[in-house]
Amino acid sequence: MQQLAHRLERLGTETAFSVAQAAAAWKAKGNRVFPFHLGDINIPTAGNIVEAMNRAIADGYTGYCPGPGIPQLREALAEDIGSRRGIDFSPDNVVVMTGGKPVITKFLQAVMNPGQEVLYPNPGFPIYESQIEYLGGTAVPYRYLPTSTGFSIDLDQIRASITPNTVAIIYNDLQNPISAESTAGEREAIAQLAQEHDLWVLSDEAYFETRYEGVSSSIASLPGMAERTVILYTFSKKFAMTGSRLGCAVAPLEIARVLSTLNTNDESCTTHYVQWAGVEALRGPRNPCSRCLTSCRSVGTLPASS
Ligand SMILES: Cc1ncc(COP(=O)(O)O)c(C=O)c1O
Repeated sequence: MQQLAHRLERLGTETAFSVAQAAAAWKAKGNRVFPFHLGDINIPTAGNIVEAMNRAIADGYTGYCPGPGIPQLREALAEDIGSRRGIDFSPDNVVVMTGGKPVITKFLQAVMNPGQEVLYPNPGFPIYESQIEYLGGTAVPYRYLPTSTGFSIDLDQIRASITPNTVAIIYNDLQNPISAESTAGEREAIAQLAQEHDLWVLSDEAYFETRYEGVSSSIASLPGMAERTVILYTFSKKFAMTGSRLGCAVAPLEIARVLSTLNTNDESCTTHYVQWAGVEALRGPRNPCSRCLTSCRSVGTLPASS
């Protein structure tokens, strides 16, 4: 009898998507749904970005394009992401992908062999555990402890969990789902552990600029970290572009080259005209400052002072 691959037994999922399907069916029956289940943005993509996408289609940017992304977008991303983190990235460090999510899978494919261990936050974004296990690794959870102001990472637990078989740590500052933000000391402690044990770091920065106040910091900005850190960046939240599927990895050159080859194997390239919308998002007049909510000023759904 025909069988499905055994590794599927280790594949998890993001249940929010099945809840979304059920909620859509419920809504189609005329019921009212308050969508707390999926991290979607309840405002539309800004008009100038939509116009740039339409213009790119009309101008014929509908064919294949380079696997790691069009040069104009890679350049804009290197500048924007680098300047907000005080790091000098080259466009060669940037590999454009269909959202932030594929960065997780491709990072693991690049650095982890079957049987090796990867530390990941739990509670955390469910795809980390799913993909580590699916790709034959061992997912080793680390937890958060309640503090008077929020949550802190249990660093002692991380220290005790590292073995000679550990190859990477997934770190999601500005955390989904508990929105914990590391202190500078906590970020430095994670960086120190990564260096002491020679670990790769996946820094999931999906929410780096989605905040009401303050300015975010990246672990990649700490001394000795850019060369061992892959940043997950996404247009989904910051520019209310969840359905456009646009994001990127910012990685040391040796990893960036591998990620680019994985792109070529998996989807050839990210949708060509969507990448031009990304250039407009980053270069256009409405790229919100790091103190401002996603596109809030551009669509006027929130007061300009927020
Ligand atoms: C922490 C985190 N990382 C990554 C993603 C992936 O987002 P996307 O693939 O839409 O860029 C999400 C989405 O909700 C998330 O919450």
